Amino acid sequence: MTTHYTSSTAFDFTTPKAGLGSRNSKWGNVDLFLGHKAPDDMLAMWVAQMDFQPAPCLQDAMATLMAEGEYGYFNGLDAFFERIAWWYETRHGWSPNSKHMFATHGIGNAIGMALQAMTEPGDGIVMFSPVYNEFQGKVERNGRKVVQSPLVIDSDGLYRMDLETLSGQLNGTEKAVLFSTPHNPAGRVWEVAELRALAAFCEQHDLLLFSDEIHHDLAFAGHKHVPTAIAAPDVLPRLITMSAASKTFDIAGLRTGFVIIPNDALRARYGKLHAALDIQCNRVGVDLTCAAYSLEGAAWVDGLMQVLDTNRRILCDGINAIPGLTAMPMQSTFLAWVDYTDTGMTSDEIHRRVTQDARIMPSPGQIFGPGGEMHQRINIGAPTALVQEAVERLQSAFSDLQ
Ligand SMILES: Cc1ncc(COP(=O)(O)O)c(C=O)c1O
Repeated sequence: MTTHYTSSTAFDFTTPKAGLGSRNSKWGNVDLFLGHKAPDDMLAMWVAQMDFQPAPCLQDAMATLMAEGEYGYFNGLDAFFERIAWWYETRHGWSPNSKHMFATHGIGNAIGMALQAMTEPGDGIVMFSPVYNEFQGKVERNGRKVVQSPLVIDSDGLYRMDLETLSGQLNGTEKAVLFSTPHNPAGRVWEVAELRALAAFCEQHDLLLFSDEIHHDLAFAGHKHVPTAIAAPDVLPRLITMSAASKTFDIAGLRTGFVIIPNDALRARYGKLHAALDIQCNRVGVDLTCAAYSLEGAAWVDGLMQVLDTNRRILCDGINAIPGLTAMPMQSTFLAWVDYTDTGMTSDEIHRRVTQDARIMPSPGQIFGPGGEMHQRINIGAPTALVQEAVERLQSAFSDLQ
């Protein structure tokens, strides 16, 4: 039976953006990562950024900035924080206080500062692996200790936290949980009950909760991202929420994010370091985030989600049709999580087939920590034709399993 996939939106999600050259980390760094020259028709499906044309509201904001030619010191951070509060309220049902916010140079920077402001060298930082690889890197580079709590796969094929086992693993030196919600790399949209259980766990073990919500806008229909702050309000005294417009609107290069800290004492500690390091965001990032967090931006995201929904169905159906390969059901994000365990092949053979035969560059699963072995993360944030092409190539590269 032929499957028909359709999506339609008023925006252009079919023409790839013009800048997919050497300055783009996703397309420009493939040779570097592989250690040799990649074939000319290699498909870059790794680094978590997308290939679509920018949202028109971003281009308009950029045009205004250029027309003004004003690149000097600037005002307007209050308006930036109010825009963020508006976006949270209209898209996610949370009304954070704009006075509780800090602007940061993206979320990596926000995490690094949270670690330095609120924990000590040697403190344990809990994370649920497999998880965004930089969580581990950030913790280690700040001289803190990584405490991995492997996620378990439930009967529905989805990851769940195993707080009971984690409880027995703790030795009292742990200070915080660094949490990806929704979850990178597997796209889990945590349910309110799960968030509450995690919040209660943090309370019970006196842990801070660093809630990284950078993928918050990308939940598919039928799944609702609930900010940790409203899922579990009891956790507010120990909660640091971090987010950005960068994944949703593909503006990670502008290095702009934000942190929300409702608790006065924690906010004062963060504020002290923020001031000491003189963290000041650039005007382009601030202006484009404000432009993104608008009704026009919201309409673009709605269109984006239609296209990503088509892409996830093509990818998951296509992968699951190959015996031995399983795509975890995608609840959010443009990142698919593919398990090759049942092929019985070695990870070298899988890497060879995917990068050489299929000519696809995925993110290798092992970089995401325990549980990532025998997996790959495949980025579907690209025009549908590219995703379709990738699926056909994978089916051909593993055709002997059919
Ligand atoms: C969960 C998560 N946090 C943080 C980041 C990085 O954020 P930034 O580019 O703002 O440092 C990513 C990027 O993929 C991510 O997936």
